[in-house]
Amino acid sequence: MNSFAQWLTKTSLSHTFRVQESWLVPGVQSIHIIGIAVIMGSLLMIALRVLGWAGTDQTLRQTTDRFGPWVMWALALQLVTGIVMIITEPARELVNFSFWTKMVFVAIGTTLAGIFLIGFPKHEQRWEALVKSRTFKSMVIVTFVLFLCIIVLGRLIAYDHIWGSWSPATQEY
Ligand code: HEM
Repeated sequence: MNSFAQWLTKTSLSHTFRVQESWLVPGVQSIHIIGIAVIMGSLLMIALRVLGWAGTDQTLRQTTDRFGPWVMWALALQLVTGIVMIITEPARELVNFSFWTKMVFVAIGTTLAGIFLIGFPKHEQRWEALVKSRTFKSMVIVTFVLFLCIIVLGRLIAYDHIWGSWSPATQEY
């Protein structure tokens, strides 16, 4: 991964992004942070409705129709802004324990959210009993906590040394 990061750093695109770094990185990171707020706010509204703790004046279908698209589009936004930050600083991101752990959590979280937000509207009757089950409610809580972990890992990318020898950033190449 280190040699790939070195190769990417030498590309003209990476160089161009770094030349524009003074506004590009803070601009893209700001959009990334707005994306976090949209994802967490929308996931919270859906989770509170599934658990029956809020929004019970709406059906679950109305709630997922309203907030589901925001989750999916904001995840796409995170991917695009994330890729721009990776191209700008390849070694900082790709040679990083927090980054790769975060990407594993993003893959699991996106899959769990995607299965529900795409599957439920399509097969509402089939999901009717499941969404009332204790297992499903636990999965909703697990998914939300997973995204909270993604936020912490995203912030720890800049402090990867805290993982000691687990962090490739502390290894001499
Ligand atoms: C979808 C794929 C994603 C990619 C490729 C990605 C990539 C990145 C990258 C490269 C950084 C910059 C880290 C740095 O240089 O300090 C970052 C920061 C961060 N990301 Fe993501 N990210 C993604 C999704 C998410 C999601 C879903 C969340 C939370 C819901 C998230 C939360 C954060 C946070 C909290 C930071 C630190 C922001 C800061 O300190 O300014 N990311 N992400």
